[in-house]
Amino acid sequence: MTKSYRIAVLPGDGIGPEIVEQGLKVLRAVSEKFGVGFEFNEGLIGGAAIDAQGVPLPDSTLKLAKNSDAVYLGAIGDWKYDTLDPAIRPERGLLKIRKELNLFANLRPAVVYDDLVSSSTLKEEAVKGVDIMIVRELTSGIYFGEPKGIEERDGEQVGFNNMIYKESEIERIVRLAFDIAVKRRKKLCSVDKANVLDVSRLWREVVERIAKDYPEVEVNHMYVDNAAMQLIRNPKQFDVVVTGNMFGDILSDEASMLTGSLGMLASASLTVQGGTAMYEPSHGSAPKYKGLDKVNPIATIMSAAMMLKYSFNMDKEADAIEQAVKQVLQDGYRTYDIMSEAKTLVGTSQMGDLVANKVREMNFALS
Ligand code: IPM
Ligand code: MG
Repeated sequence: MTKSYRIAVLPGDGIGPEIVEQGLKVLRAVSEKFGVGFEFNEGLIGGAAIDAQGVPLPDSTLKLAKNSDAVYLGAIGDWKYDTLDPAIRPERGLLKIRKELNLFANLRPAVVYDDLVSSSTLKEEAVKGVDIMIVRELTSGIYFGEPKGIEERDGEQVGFNNMIYKESEIERIVRLAFDIAVKRRKKLCSVDKANVLDVSRLWREVVERIAKDYPEVEVNHMYVDNAAMQLIRNPKQFDVVVTGNMFGDILSDEASMLTGSLGMLASASLTVQGGTAMYEPSHGSAPKYKGLDKVNPIATIMSAAMMLKYSFNMDKEADAIEQAVKQVLQDGYRTYDIMSEAKTLVGTSQMGDLVANKVREMNFALS
């Protein structure tokens, strides 16, 4: 073993710990199989950190993350914190780590596996073969715009947030999306609300300008309401979708249902070259399923595959995880969310074991 990659493991709340454990099983299998080294160091975030230290992102966790080669996160949030001061809610921990690590690019691939076509609520002919990459801006826009707050004006309470994008912020996310499109089917759809929002008019101008540097990519613009409709009507028209923070949040949840379950959607949050990136499932902490060994760990496992690919340049190893997941599905194993007739129902932990064992058994021409 030449190098050991340091991975900050932040299980978080709800089902976070149990799904992350499955990802770690799979990474250990990758380590054995391919002779690559991983060093896992755990940290607290979200409600778990609030309980232990009174804040959703302790400095020690941030330091651990910054000193690691990648961050592997489970999920954060629990109803029991809903009444807390918004400044110390678990979600704040997530937003803060995204901002502190400058994770401006959130990649959320929505891929429909052939074996799961019947799990989607949409018709087979609509979803079969869907392979969309949503590129969501993650550290700006309405999530972070100032001023924001609730205050009294003219005798009543007024709540406000600001959707603000600097040209440089639009440019870096759009370039990254074009770079991804070039390596895929060379189609980019930019989603905005330029018929109403000024910030979207600027967004569109920047996309048009940058498009000139990528003549091989076919570009179109879509208003977000239309995009929401088109995703359901004809999802196969999309290859790469680039959009702002809040539109991306909404559209990625929607896109996940094309795949049959939110439990299938992995994600990578990337920063500038050389910085520490973060990998987490796109879904939340599902507190009602906590500890039941029930939920689907595939989104988390596939997020580990994205980590190998994007942070460690381990394409072969990432591919092994993807193939292992596909084969386990082909063998007929399903968690409850993607269960269908004549398949074998398994729990969280068994799904993790199945994928890890597949990685171990896989035949690879080791290069
Ligand atoms: C997501 C989540 C978060 C977001 C929440 C938990 C803050 O919905 O990662 O999509 O809105 O970004
Ligand atoms: Mg979301």
